[in-house]
This record gives sequence, structure tokens and C-alpha cells, in this order.
Amino acid sequence: MSVFSAKDFNAQRYSTIRPTYPDSFYEVLSKYHQGPREMLIDVGCGPGTATFQLADCLNSFEKLIGTDLSSTMVENARATQEQNADKYANVSFVQSPAESFEFLGRNAYKQKCDMITAVECAHWFDFEKFQSAAAANLRAGGTLAIWGYGDFFFPDYPKLDFEIDDLTFGEDKFGPYWQQPGRNIACEMLKDLHYDSRWFSDAEEVYYYKEDLKGKGPKSTPLFMYKRLTLTDLKEYIKTWSGYHSWQKDHPKPEKDITDIFIERVKELYPELKDESEVQITWRTFWMFARRKP
Ligand SMILES: C[S@@+](CC[C@H](N)C(=O)[O-])C[C@H]1O[C@@H](n2cnc3c(N)ncnc32)[C@H](O)[C@@H]1O
Repeated sequence: MSVFSAKDFNAQRYSTIRPTYPDSFYEVLSKYHQGPREMLIDVGCGPGTATFQLADCLNSFEKLIGTDLSSTMVENARATQEQNADKYANVSFVQSPAESFEFLGRNAYKQKCDMITAVECAHWFDFEKFQSAAAANLRAGGTLAIWGYGDFFFPDYPKLDFEIDDLTFGEDKFGPYWQQPGRNIACEMLKDLHYDSRWFSDAEEVYYYKEDLKGKGPKSTPLFMYKRLTLTDLKEYIKTWSGYHSWQKDHPKPEKDITDIFIERVKELYPELKDESEVQITWRTFWMFARRKP
């Protein structure tokens, strides 16, 4: 079971601080999609991060359903939907594994769905089972879209790139606390996972690595993801990582929180940075689109 499913996982913090995806990306997705727009299912939806954006940007879809394994995430997503019930009247959430569409009842496995999205989550799935289930539920020509982000870097503070990699993968840091193989698959942006040509065609696979993004801005690619965060926010962001959640379980009463040690190191390397100073982080990103074969 994923750490995100833990009852004490902080879905609220996740929802507040995790990045969203630029409108320019949704334009690319919308152009790729062909045919009817009745039902869209966003699997592994978390607190509805992409689901609500899809409702805003691909607003021609009649019905959007977000699904997630974690009841904590689904409760959080439902609460947001209820607070914005008028705007998101066509959006609902269901607790379900991405590999199953049983929640569709009599429509399950009947190829009724026009688009299935899996955003920053497919690295946790049984990919073979997921593709097979998606193929059984997507109509001919329907879109399967997977996208997300890998690790981030600091374009303006290059010495921090080593520090963040060390915090993420160091044996004495978060290294042992990630669920594998999911974490490594995410780090590599699913580059070894491909659409099965038995079911899918017109595959489009796009990856943006650090070398492609360094020195560039939001206009350079449709999926340019960055955030300007104060050091205090950066610390909060790191606390949304599943690796941090597991580290914390192992260190219930640490002398110092591992994220405080990281921020101290940041200030040591760049003494001009204070807690309230803003730094930019830029994520490596990718997308994979394909169409259900007739
Ligand atoms: C990093 S979050 C991404 C959430 C959201 N899609 C976003 O873009 O921020 C990954 C989500 O995948 C969910 N997840 C992991 N394995 C899953 C599975 N097999 N089926 C459904 N959801 C799963 C987790 O519960 C978590 O909410």
C-alpha cells in the first residue's frame, strides 16, 4: 500500500503545496484528443490536483471522475468539490485502484470512456494491468494520457542540486525510505514504460530533462513546471514527500527535523538566503499520450 493511503498522511498539505500543471499543457492534450468528450476518468487523482484543472481547461467534457486508492486523498478531493459544488457539478470522486474500473457498474469494461488520465502516479501502478483495464474501458480512438514530473533542480543555485539529490537518495537521508520500484520509476520519468501496441497507437512520448530546461522559461515548452518558494515553503514541500512521511515514522522524536538540517545547509552554501528568501525550483517533466486502437 502506498504511503499516500496512510490515514495520517497530510493530504491537506499535499493539496496546498504540490505543483499544478500549466494551461499550455492542457491545450496540447485537448488538441491531441479526437472525438466525443462525454466521460473522463482521472486515476490516481490525489486531492484532485489535475482533475479540477481538467474540468477547467477541458471544460467540454460532460462528466469527470477522479479515482484514488487512498481514502484520505479522496476525502480531501470531495471536500474541495463540495466547497465549489456549482463550478464542479460534473466532477465526482471514487475510492478505487487505478487498475480497476468496477465503480462504473454496468458500464465497466464496456469501452464507454473518452479519456483516461494518470498524473504523477502511474509509477505506483501495476502498469500491465492498468493498461489492460484502461484499454477495456476506453472507446476506440479514446485518449490515454500519462504525465508528471521527475525530481526538481535549482536553476539559480546550482550548488543546491547536489544537496537535494543527497537528501533524496542519500543512504543516511531519505534513500532507504522510498517505496520501490515506484520511486525509481518516477525519478526516471517512466522512460522504460511504453504503451502496448496490442491496444494503443499514435503514441507520443515527450521528456524534458535538466539540460533541456536550464536557462529556459515557461514559454519554452508546454509543460514547463516551476515554483518560486521561500525556504520555509520549500521545507513544507519536502514534507509532502512519501519518503519524508516514512522517515518521520522511523524518527518520531528527532533531535532536529531532517528538513531543518537541509535548510541550514542551504543557508551555509548561500548565506544571502534567509527563511523568507524565494528560490525557484524547476521540475523535469514528461508526457505520454496514446489512442485506443479500434
Ligand atoms: C503523487 S500523488 C499524485 C496526485 C495527483 N494526480 C497529482 O497530479 O498531484 C500519487 C497518487 O497516486 C495514488 N495511487 C498510488 N497507487 C495507486 C493505485 N494503484 N491506484 C490508484 N491510486 C494510486 C496515491 O494514493 C496518490 O494519491
